[in-house]
Amino acid sequence: NCFAQYSTGVLLITILANSNSNEILGLKIPTDPVLNANTVCLTLPGLTRRQLEVCMRNPDVTASAIQGIQIAIHECQHQFRGHRWNCSSLETRNKIPYESVVFSRGFRESAFAYAIAAAGVVHAVSNACSMGKLKACGCDEKRRGDEEAFRIKLNRLQLEAINKGKGMVHGVMEQIPADTLGPQDSWEWGGCSPDVEYGEKFSRDFLDSRETYKDIHARMRLHNNRVGRQAVMDNMKRKCKCHGTSGSCQLKTCWQVTPEFRAVGSMLKDRFHIATLIKAHNRNTGQVEHAHPPHRRRANHNELIYFEKSPDFCEREPGSDSAGTQGRICNKTSPGMDNCESLCCGRGHNILQQTRSERCNCKFHWCCYVVCDECRITEWVSVCK
Ligand SMILES: *[C@@H]1O[C@H](CO)[C@@H](O)[C@H](O)[C@H]1NC(C)=O
Ligand SMILES: *[C@@H]1O[C@H](CO)[C@@H](O)[C@H](O)[C@H]1NC(C)=O
Repeated sequence: NCFAQYSTGVLLITILANSNSNEILGLKIPTDPVLNANTVCLTLPGLTRRQLEVCMRNPDVTASAIQGIQIAIHECQHQFRGHRWNCSSLETRNKIPYESVVFSRGFRESAFAYAIAAAGVVHAVSNACSMGKLKACGCDEKRRGDEEAFRIKLNRLQLEAINKGKGMVHGVMEQIPADTLGPQDSWEWGGCSPDVEYGEKFSRDFLDSRETYKDIHARMRLHNNRVGRQAVMDNMKRKCKCHGTSGSCQLKTCWQVTPEFRAVGSMLKDRFHIATLIKAHNRNTGQVEHAHPPHRRRANHNELIYFEKSPDFCEREPGSDSAGTQGRICNKTSPGMDNCESLCCGRGHNILQQTRSERCNCKFHWCCYVVCDECRITEWVSVCK
């Protein structure tokens, strides 16, 4: 049972320090902070000039974008938890992670990191739009129903139901008159769908603007950013609600929701495994080509691309973002990446009893902090030599 709660303060700590707190259950939970240029942009290290401009124009959206990047990093850590490279290096305090080593390289892991961060921005910004948290965006206008027409239709149905009231027993309609029965799968837009196009555009403005050179690294970043964004946009789901008398579904309204971010993470992880190695030379053609072309085709639209073979991440090697796997917990019986033989790179492992505290049940709160439980675990573990 994990009781101790603490704010990990991953994000925008300066904002929290300036905001008022109200106490909920004895925890200091900050109220919605003031998100303006001073509190967001000028305290945020690691922004390029272009990004600073974007931030100054839309500080609240930028704060949301940065929260999206943090959620993406958590997801990255989840997806790579048993891998030798486990995404822990992207965990940064109070700043965006683009200066970390993996982003400066052309590894498969770099490709994943770009894609998931860009996806995180689309996801967080679009949802903040639909929650009404941002000045610049709201519900998706293209998926907004005609509320007035809908209300009239609903009223008419209710009137009809009252007129045929004899058919109702305890509010349940015994016989649904055929003339009021809509086709089962007919529905119309209603409610608030997140403005995913705004989220996508902001993700482009904010992340792609870092690119000034058209070299292979820039192309890889731009391509993978786009793949990440597309993973959110192509997997929007529809949720519906039934209206009508007595729980019948004579009218159905639907709205879009973003996919669970876990699903986005898993999807991109699958693409990580089948990522395409592209040629590091042949610059400035504006094209992305495979390294081993049977026929030189351009990389598929949805494939992650990378141009540098990853190291094995066995030994500590800061220049490659490798922390080494000494001390990592492995699993003797696992068929996966966390198998001791594989994770320990053949160096063997020790078995020892370990007590450690881990962050768990992390929740992302608007805006811009993370609250996690602290779980203490004591167990026998295998640990890499
Ligand atoms: C990830 O790797 C780092 C460095 O090897 C290690 O300190 C950390 O405990 C690992 N995290 C997990 C969840 O295994
Ligand atoms: C080790 O891996 C096996 C097989 O996947 C799994 O059933 C077991 O729960 C894992 N053990 C730990 C301690 O994670």
